[in-house]
Amino acid sequence: MILAPSILACDLGRLAEEIRAVERGGAGMIHVDVMDGRFVPNITLGPVVVAACRRATALPLDVHLMIEDAERYLDAFVDAGATSISVHVEALTHLQRAVAHLRGRGIAPGVALNPATPIATLQEILPELDYVLVMSVNPGFAGQKLLPPALDKLRRLREEARARGLKLRLQLDGGVNPANIKSVLEAGAEIVVVGAAAFAAGDPEQAVRGLIGAAS
Ligand code: DX5
Ligand code: ZN
Repeated sequence: MILAPSILACDLGRLAEEIRAVERGGAGMIHVDVMDGRFVPNITLGPVVVAACRRATALPLDVHLMIEDAERYLDAFVDAGATSISVHVEALTHLQRAVAHLRGRGIAPGVALNPATPIATLQEILPELDYVLVMSVNPGFAGQKLLPPALDKLRRLREEARARGLKLRLQLDGGVNPANIKSVLEAGAEIVVVGAAAFAAGDPEQAVRGLIGAAS
């Protein structure tokens, strides 16, 4: 399992320290939630914050784009130091072009699915993806409750990837906590995003250690 704390939930005034704390706790990746106030009701972080993360850590930076017109901004996030980038299938008309562009720039491409978006929308693009991000909350805010049908979606995606012989990583994002992280892994997630559960209690290093402990 790779635990990926979302800096959306951290104390942004202490961004570098917060990142170093989750890194000490055993985080394997940093998740950056980019929101535009159009695709989702909140506005958050942009390329300058990804660049600040890049200066703070050598961990992979996973950028989750919850924005319209994502194609216009892909290069800015690549240049800022992203390692992997996911785009929402609901927000992009030319999904294949965006995925191929990311691949061409040496970035692991991912596609994110909202809770009500069926797996079938990925039928054609699946072989070109490095990972699928399954949303277990409606995107927009940290600190929401996990919607249980997301776990069944993970299982079905794992089964589909296996049946088609695809090497696909599955990521779950939203509402993960120490009480449910084990079921998330059992359902097939390899990358687990955690926002509030990593940062809200004020000791991110310990919280991440606790989450990794609860997962095993
Ligand atoms: C939600 C974001 C998530 C969120 C995770 O729109 O994509 O990454 O910040 O936070 P928690 O774990 O608190 O749901
Ligand atoms: Zn996210």
